[in-house]
Amino acid sequence: MSAQIVIAVVNLKGGSTKTTTAAHLGSALHEADLRVLGVDADGENQHLAAWQTAGNWPWSVVGMAVPNLHKQLPGVVGDRYDVVVIDTPPMKEHRGVVLSAVRLATHVVVPLAPTGIEYQQLPAVRSLIDDAADLRPDGRKPVVAVLLTRCVPGASSTGTYRDLITADGFTVLKAQVNRLERFAQAFGDPIVGAANTAYGDAADELLELEVSA
Ligand SMILES: Nc1ncnc2c1ncn2[C@@H]1O[C@H](COP(=O)(O)OP(=O)(O)OP(=O)(O)O)[C@@H](O)[C@H]1O
Ligand SMILES: [Mg+2]
Repeated sequence: MSAQIVIAVVNLKGGSTKTTTAAHLGSALHEADLRVLGVDADGENQHLAAWQTAGNWPWSVVGMAVPNLHKQLPGVVGDRYDVVVIDTPPMKEHRGVVLSAVRLATHVVVPLAPTGIEYQQLPAVRSLIDDAADLRPDGRKPVVAVLLTRCVPGASSTGTYRDLITADGFTVLKAQVNRLERFAQAFGDPIVGAANTAYGDAADELLELEVSA
């Protein structure tokens, strides 16, 4: 596939801010003048393609909730995009679709609230990423980055879970997304100024992370 960067936004369960993260990362990258294609690999709940239409975004989203995404997507992307952002369904219910998305990804972003219940989901995510790596013809592992979201400003939980997740061997982005009405109420609206939010900082960090050989 010609797109240089394929970001898959992945987590185990529903409601972990995958779609909000895909929407704002994609918007921040679009605002940075990159040619961005969003891929809605979920198609249920409050999904990316519906938000793109309702919010009249200036960048495209295609619906592809299929377990052979790694085969279908390269033909759709061609050489027209610099970055592809894939919003995935919850792994727990749709592991095949998420596995397929991760097989294509150069970068996997795991949005996670700094809470015990969300922290406990990380081993399942790691195991899916390992399974996907085994299936990749190029043998490359994607860059994996945890993005802390719904953080309460000033709360000690953010630092505690940042340290725990780092000690487990994950890269945790320095940028962290706070619990904010702006994001809680965002679905269905246009997205303006994403590059000036924590998602803009997260996008910059992601672009700088090296893909290992
Ligand atoms: N930073 C934030 N602060 C507060 N609320 C947030 C924030 N980010 C997302 N939310 C809210 O959290 C809820 C879940 O977000 P979202 O739909 O992005 O999750 P999801 O992982 O895509 O869920 P699903 O698996 O059902 O598709 C939504 O109601 C959203 O508005
Ligand atoms: Mg979603």
